Amino acid sequence: MQSDFSRVLLRREEIGKRVAELAAEIDRDYAGKTPLFVGILKGSVFFFTDLLQQLHIPAQLDFMSVSSYGNGDQTSGRVRIMKDLDRPIEGQHVVIVEDIIDSGTTLSYLKRLLESRNPASVRICTLLDKPDRRRTEVAVDYRGFVIPDEFIVGYGLDYAERYRLEPDIYVLDPHVYGKE
Ligand code: PRP
Repeated sequence: MQSDFSRVLLRREEIGKRVAELAAEIDRDYAGKTPLFVGILKGSVFFFTDLLQQLHIPAQLDFMSVSSYGNGDQTSGRVRIMKDLDRPIEGQHVVIVEDIIDSGTTLSYLKRLLESRNPASVRICTLLDKPDRRRTEVAVDYRGFVIPDEFIVGYGLDYAERYRLEPDIYVLDPHVYGKE
């Protein structure tokens, strides 16, 4: 049977090593502070929990759920808030944690939204960055890996809700999304 994946992009071990490096960087930058980490559901869940477990600083966490894609692979350019933060963030240091920045639509919108709530600061931490797809500029403060413009899944990332539980990150084979 033909595999759904063309190749492995990032093995779990390599991801884990980079996540530990990011956590060490965040520990240094937020020493003496208690930032609020905001996980953007659902793709970031594994990255979020792996990253936060490696931190030594005290931290708070919350989640948001937003929608911009539907089931396809192209952004619609619109962002809809499905679940907002539970509490106000006035005066807090906020770190948004994402799995991937693609067009930049989601994170530029979210950053502006959270900044409008008078926090002490808002930074962005993303595991993956696909700069070739950028349509809206976003300042990324913590970045795990820069990756090529290929359709990837695994470690939380899906295609039509499939493959999220794969421990490694794979390039999805084009036959799966009908472009053989
Ligand atoms: C993905 C990802 C980001 C967004 C990035 O989420 O988690 O939120 O797309 O794309 P952009 O830079 O083009 O805005 P998705 O909508 O696939 O939802 P999911 O995390 O629940 O899979």
